[in-house]
Amino acid sequence: MNFRRFFTAAIIATAATTAVAQAADCTVNAADPFDLGEADVTELYACIEGKMAEGYAKEGHEIGTAFRSWTVTSTRPAVAGAHGNRLLQTFANDIAAEQYLKFEEEGVVMPVGAVLAKESIKITKKQTGRVGPLFTMTKLETGAAPDAGDWLYGGVQPNGKVMKVKQSFCHDCHSAWETQDMLAYPLEEVRISN
Ligand code: HEC
Repeated sequence: MNFRRFFTAAIIATAATTAVAQAADCTVNAADPFDLGEADVTELYACIEGKMAEGYAKEGHEIGTAFRSWTVTSTRPAVAGAHGNRLLQTFANDIAAEQYLKFEEEGVVMPVGAVLAKESIKITKKQTGRVGPLFTMTKLETGAAPDAGDWLYGGVQPNGKVMKVKQSFCHDCHSAWETQDMLAYPLEEVRISN
């Protein structure tokens, strides 16, 4: 055994393991998501988006597999406070996109079949980004869910499994935006409008 070759191989193997561990962890330089700057978030997103997309699609969930080809509604994920201080980024399907991207505040009625899907990333105490649920809202036929503004709230877990969602839990908060058809919209500074 040539020792130099052996050590070189060992060093390469260690370096490769470290790189994989870092990629799996996606570290950031703050534990409080509100302390992350634009560049930090962009870097984190680049690190985690592949894993996120793969996870949501893993079990073949209809929205979880489709949403990445929809219209992205913000320049980057951002933290609004709601949804557990997670970094959030919303995608709109073809039926939803035109109206959603107007970010109107009065008299909004989303068309039946509109779907919004929102990726979420949790910042852990160990300063790593962890994939959170994909939150979804689907506009149903008029009268289908009168207690929830005819929206069906849902979610996909990071492992692709359906997340059990209590409609009233989601709607009690979203009903604050009644004139916007229950939509809260991304933070103004990251909105992409049409
Ligand atoms: C405490 C308030 C609150 C609760 C509870 C809540 N949301 Fe939200 N939701 C928000 C806010 C605020 C936003 C916009 C923040 C952002 O995207 O930056 C939002 C955005 C969304 C969006 C993107 C569409 C939009 O409104 O612009 C979806 C989809 C969504 N929530 C689904 C859900 C689901 C599903 C639940 C229940 C599991 C839920 N929400 C519970 C406050 C809430």
